Amino acid sequence: MKTAAVLAFSASLFAQGAYSWGAMGHATVAYIASNYMNGAAKTFVSHILDGATPASVASWADTYRYTAAGRFSAGFHYIDAHDTVPHSCNIDLERDCGAEGCVVYAIANYTERVQMTNLTAIERTDALKFIIHFLGDITQPLHTENLDVGGNDITVQWGEGSKSKTNLHAIWDRQIPETLAGGSTDAVAEKFAKAIVKDIESGIYKDQKDSWVSCDSITKGAACPKVWAADANSFVCTVVLPNGVDAVQGTDLSTEYYEKAAPIARQQLAKGGYRLGMWLNSIAAAVNSR
Ligand SMILES: *[C@@H]1O[C@H](CO)[C@@H](O)[C@H](O)[C@H]1NC(C)=O
Ligand SMILES: *[C@@H]1O[C@H](CO)[C@@H](O)[C@H](O)[C@H]1NC(C)=O
Ligand SMILES: [Zn+2]
Repeated sequence: MKTAAVLAFSASLFAQGAYSWGAMGHATVAYIASNYMNGAAKTFVSHILDGATPASVASWADTYRYTAAGRFSAGFHYIDAHDTVPHSCNIDLERDCGAEGCVVYAIANYTERVQMTNLTAIERTDALKFIIHFLGDITQPLHTENLDVGGNDITVQWGEGSKSKTNLHAIWDRQIPETLAGGSTDAVAEKFAKAIVKDIESGIYKDQKDSWVSCDSITKGAACPKVWAADANSFVCTVVLPNGVDAVQGTDLSTEYYEKAAPIARQQLAKGGYRLGMWLNSIAAAVNSR
């Protein structure tokens, strides 16, 4: 069972590369958010997406960035914290958000644009699709870290044998969430999201959820996305690389490392979904109040 799963993940990894929470992770965030969207947000989102569901568009930005038209958005999926892992983790917008932009300003930008009635329908649709995707990306710790290209250059193993060679970023994007959820399909994401929602409502996340949205104002530009990026970045020092790069380089992360990392990956997906639901409620309310 375990071996088969590991092989399947290795295969999907080589086919797709590592860009952000995999499609399963982004769909999970969208399904969680859908659970927290009120009637006004559902109406607004359905209108802007022309009837499509948040989950069905959650990974669009990862395809778009590799097209000629979407190349400008490649730098919007992350922020390159130039901190000193594992001694000190921190985000400094001046230092870390490059000329090509970053996820913090991208969220601020598209939150504004989706509300602008003087943009074209396609521009507003793209803005919403970016929001749905980036509120997921910004909770992935390695999307808030510059070291070794966000861990892409840190070679690790996922399972035994030569076929299991991968990198740390990919482990966090796909292997950890997909092992937790039990697969990579949309149906798996929907089921995984249901279990996470249950934990937000009455389980392990019940007492934390308010702190996840302690900054939730859509009118403060980059302020809240910056708080979220700093939160995700803090886990780079405590969970992703607590003992530095040498401690993980070339080692198999599918056992003890996974046991420690998995609860944090799950919690980060939960945060992304919960925040996205609240964020869309605020956007819909703002649009309706004009
Ligand atoms: C805001 O969005 C527009 C349209 O996609 C893009 O051209 C611009 O570079 C974005 N600005 C920032 C700061 O992300
Ligand atoms: C759209 O309206 C905003 C103000 O809401 C303004 O700043 C912006 O320049 C306008 N854009 C276009 C393309 O007209
Ligand atoms: Zn992404």
